[in-house]
Amino acid sequence: MANRGGFSSKLGFIMAAAGSAVGLGNIWKFPFEVGAGGGAAFLLMYLAFCFILCFPVMVTEIAIGRKTQLNPVGAFKALGYKRWSIIGKMGILSGVLILSFYNVVAGWAFGYFIEMVMGNFEVGANFGEYITNVFKIGGYAIVFMATTAYIVSKGISAGIERASKILMPTLFFIIIGLVLYSFTLPNAFKGVQFYLVPDFSEINLEVVFNALGQAFFSLSLGMGALITYGSYVGKKDNIVTSAAFITLADVGIAFLAGLMMFPFVAYLTDGTMEGAAQGPGLIFAVLPGVFESLGPVLGVIVGSTFFLLLSFAALTSTVSLLEVPVTYVVDEHQVKRSRAVWTVAMIVFLVGLPSLMGNGAVEFFTSFVTYPSGETKTFMDLVENLSSDTFLPLGGFMISIFAAYIWKKENLHEEISSGYDGFKTSFVRKFLDVTISYLCPIILGIIFILTVSQKFFGVSLIDKLFY
Ligand code: PHE
Repeated sequence: MANRGGFSSKLGFIMAAAGSAVGLGNIWKFPFEVGAGGGAAFLLMYLAFCFILCFPVMVTEIAIGRKTQLNPVGAFKALGYKRWSIIGKMGILSGVLILSFYNVVAGWAFGYFIEMVMGNFEVGANFGEYITNVFKIGGYAIVFMATTAYIVSKGISAGIERASKILMPTLFFIIIGLVLYSFTLPNAFKGVQFYLVPDFSEINLEVVFNALGQAFFSLSLGMGALITYGSYVGKKDNIVTSAAFITLADVGIAFLAGLMMFPFVAYLTDGTMEGAAQGPGLIFAVLPGVFESLGPVLGVIVGSTFFLLLSFAALTSTVSLLEVPVTYVVDEHQVKRSRAVWTVAMIVFLVGLPSLMGNGAVEFFTSFVTYPSGETKTFMDLVENLSSDTFLPLGGFMISIFAAYIWKKENLHEEISSGYDGFKTSFVRKFLDVTISYLCPIILGIIFILTVSQKFFGVSLIDKLFY
């Protein structure tokens, strides 16, 4: 495989992979999912899923990528299991679907940067209107997709690596600053309570479904993004410590984002937490008011920096989302990289148009589906439920079965051992064996069947089995 390029160092890979993981998923999606899922109960489940189910899948994805040095479709073929490349194909489809709506939200975030620069704190209160202005947000979405495509067309270059190395830590410090500020506000404690004290009566299948989807989404798992990034990793690098760092960084930032958001929500609602469950508009509706409270000068500085960094965090994720279908087209269909990039970007943008228009501007896409539960959802919600909440955990399920029973554990061990002496006799190996062979397939399989049948087909298997 001539000239695929690669990461210049282990740190470069970690930063790029953490850049893929940390994004809108942590700062935009995680807080609103927690809010909609009843607070701490969601958080607990999310954490359990990340460490017990997702971390092992992450190690496996990186190992498959590094072993084969290929894209997610080619990788399974190269290992000799052509049929299993269906996992890769599903991953590419997920990548296209996720990027299609992700880019729209990234455009909102970028637009907010500009609003903050201009001191327009009112935009938060008018968020519902803001997202119906399809020409404006469409323009931002085009800028965002074009920037993503430009970076990806340059290859796994110093570009992605260097940018992530500077921007990620900066974002981290801004969030810490905002967390500290949020604690000083009236009613902050009520927000912390909502976030950290679980109420188990809030847990139901819907919450489990969303928490699992969120864990996979936030860690960029189940669609081969990390097979793709893993294909650029050196043989001397330790996959396990890298994966551990990526998981901790991602979960840590999501956790902090929640710790910042809920005291703010409590402050702005006088402690009632009303509107915490409002969904995708949460950070966009809440944060501008918080920045305004910092005063006109500091508010503009902190607010615009925040949304600029959020846009960068989104950019390192959109880059990885686009990289997956592009690497596939380049490797498997011998298309020139630049041509592949711009064609795929165009297609994804078009697929995203209904998501762009379906937040009030065009009624058809706004009230797009009604689930058997009676909930009416937007086009964007549907794409999100299908791709991130359904396909990603399904991908994780299939990857773990593949690694444990088809490719076989010995081969997985062999690959992980490169760069990690002593892996075979370690505790980590035992943990991975149990999770990959039993926990992941069983738990992911059960949740998949239960939730899909309930959510999309209105059949409650739990009721059928137990009552
Ligand atoms: N993990 C990214 C985020 O949290 C989104 C993403 C999902 C990126 C899947 C790549 C693959 O924002």
